[in-house]
Amino acid sequence: MRRENLVVVITGANRGIGLALVQEYKARDAFVVGICRSSSPTLDALADRVVADIDVSEAASVARLADAIDDLEVDLLINNAGVLYGETLGNIDYATVLKQLEVNAMGPLRVTEQLLPYLNDGAKIALITSRMGSIADNGSGAYYGYRMSKAALNAAGKSLARDLVSRKIAVGILHPGFVQTDMVNHAGDISASVAACRLAERIDGLTLENTGSFWHSNGELLPW
Ligand SMILES: NC(=O)c1ccc[n+]([C@@H]2O[C@H](COP(=O)([O-])OP(=O)(O)OC[C@H]3O[C@@H](n4cnc5c(N)ncnc54)[C@H](OP(=O)(O)O)[C@@H]3O)[C@@H](O)[C@H]2O)c1
Repeated sequence: MRRENLVVVITGANRGIGLALVQEYKARDAFVVGICRSSSPTLDALADRVVADIDVSEAASVARLADAIDDLEVDLLINNAGVLYGETLGNIDYATVLKQLEVNAMGPLRVTEQLLPYLNDGAKIALITSRMGSIADNGSGAYYGYRMSKAALNAAGKSLARDLVSRKIAVGILHPGFVQTDMVNHAGDISASVAACRLAERIDGLTLENTGSFWHSNGELLPW
């Protein structure tokens, strides 16, 4: 159904940066769909629609998304859900490496592919990646699975950007900053709401001219 206000779909919407993005887009009067594994009271109170029980790493789970939004025409899809585990050389847990590839790289690709029929021509897609996925910027090593998964997500983002030009869909590959969420034990240097506000500014500036670029939420262009 065509709506007057922007229709925004956000994964990992129950907490952290995803929840702050729900708040940001509600403040902009968007119609917000929050996708999550389990909802939270704040998400329930804010979102126009909550789609729970969706694990982005499971094909059958993501397939259920279609029924949950098939009455909507989506203007913005934000693939935000992600996980971070730390592996150290000599003691690498390949199960966590694989999990990060499944959630952080394959998850956003799967969700995007599933929702493509419901995206407007001219819609936007944001992939919340990390500068830890930058090979050029890796000055400290370790974090094998996280770095590999975010580099893979960046590669997928570039292909999506190329493939979706024909539908006038722009793709932003966005690092949120070092953000005070559970993922980093709240050790970040900006709050989730500041990160969400900056990410929304980058998404505002996303066009078919700069599609497929890798941005820090502060506006800096990041190296691959
Ligand atoms: N915080 C930072 O400094 C930082 C820096 C760079 C990039 N990022 C990226 O920003 C994004 C959001 O992170 P955050 O800091 O907000 O982390 P967070 O507070 O740990 O939140 C992670 C979100 O992802 C969801 N999620 C995890 N695994 C999932 C799965 N298999 N299926 C569906 N949802 C899943 C979580 O849901 P549950 O509640 O169900 O676990 C939660 O909603 C991630 O992609 C992360 O890599 C964060």
